[in-house]
Amino acid sequence: MQAQPPEATLQFDIGSTDDSLERMIELFAEHGDIYRVYVPARQSHTYVIHHPDDVKRVLVSNHRNYTKGLGLDRVKILLGKGLMTSEAELWTRQRYMMQPFFHRRVITQFAEVIGTANSQLLTRWDDLARRGEPVNLTDEMSSLTLEIVLRAIFGHDLERMSQELGGNPFEVVTKEQGRNLQFAFKFRSLTKLVAGLIERRRREKQEHFDYVAMLMTARDKDSGAPMSERQLIDEILTLVVAGHETTASGLNWTWYLLSQHPEAEARLHAELDAVPDETAPSLPEMERLAYTQQVINEALRLYPPGWLLSRRTVQPDVLSGYEIPAGANVLLPLYLLHRHPRYWQDPDTFFPERFAPEHEAQRPRFAYMPFAAGPRHCIGETFALYEMLMHLHRIARHFRLVHVPDKPIELEAQINLRTRYPLHMRLERR
Ligand code: HEM
Repeated sequence: MQAQPPEATLQFDIGSTDDSLERMIELFAEHGDIYRVYVPARQSHTYVIHHPDDVKRVLVSNHRNYTKGLGLDRVKILLGKGLMTSEAELWTRQRYMMQPFFHRRVITQFAEVIGTANSQLLTRWDDLARRGEPVNLTDEMSSLTLEIVLRAIFGHDLERMSQELGGNPFEVVTKEQGRNLQFAFKFRSLTKLVAGLIERRRREKQEHFDYVAMLMTARDKDSGAPMSERQLIDEILTLVVAGHETTASGLNWTWYLLSQHPEAEARLHAELDAVPDETAPSLPEMERLAYTQQVINEALRLYPPGWLLSRRTVQPDVLSGYEIPAGANVLLPLYLLHRHPRYWQDPDTFFPERFAPEHEAQRPRFAYMPFAAGPRHCIGETFALYEMLMHLHRIARHFRLVHVPDKPIELEAQINLRTRYPLHMRLERR
């Protein structure tokens, strides 16, 4: 029997309490790469890991020995058995069927969708800037990314649904900040709406280019069977949630960091001003914005929206030389991995240049992973990066955002890492 990792003197439900991040920062400083916490409510230990080799083992080389862990039950109420929450054969089948829809060739075809949403934002911000009114950036980013992902999923039917229901039925996702059972109930009522849409699409047989259409045409590679209606609904609602808050939070932090670092902002402006001001640039064009990408990478390093991954062992495993029993919860706090002082110089400093190709080789591959890694890494990574690049490309060329320090900058580390209070920004025309 191998030794057990150091144990925190504190006993609490790590990963599930509101102050988990604060406590994890302290526990990491005290214990380093691996420790365990006894959770009285579960009568078991939860293990917390920060070493890139262990992270690689859990997510990649020994991933078969892990299922998703803590916190997933709450998410399941919302998302049923969609890609984020499913396991084993169901997950493998679904991922295999859905992977092609997230290929670069498909993603670049959402240029119009993303471009139009940003154009509308620009018009609105122009108006606010003229009147000297600050924007609630946090709400704006939430609405923008929701609009984009809903258009990508439902295409023109989004208008139809909004008209029939006298408003965007999915707004509950941004308007209600609480992530409690009441929210879950309202969210699940969207199920009926989506079922109605699927039914209508089956009847009308019109061509569409959106995720509903793609998912409806997907076929299992062995049986040739389509997804059941229940499965379609779960996958659609999963994309709504997974594809919106994370990107919104990434952009919210990116703008905040830019507003605090005028040199980085000036470099970003120089790069953006040198390319054409297109509404719908292609994915390859956006990927050529090297510094803009570094800014995004650095924002996602400091504030990874999915800040805590959780897994559970199937069989016992050995991490950092310590025995981890079967059925144990293992937490991977990306927030701390991304600030590990062994791999990052001045880890708390915003320094986008650290992502320049010449510096990339200085750290292990598994020290940075805002989109996770291995078979269950984010399926929407390319979509999210394209969306963030297009947004900065379009907006930062026309506006500087100046932070209005009306509230302290505090972290709210729940499922996503958000700012506790909305950020307000004064818009300066460039
Ligand atoms: C900046 C934006 C985003 C970030 C930081 C992010 C991060 C992540 C992370 C860390 C995971 C892994 C979770 C885990 O293993 O426990 C994940 C999974 C996932 N993400 Fe994203 N995501 C983003 C945007 C998106 C978008 C735009 C979509 C869809 C349009 C999306 C759809 C998904 C789905 C479906 C999964 C589950 C994949 C699976 O288990 O097979 N995400 N994401």
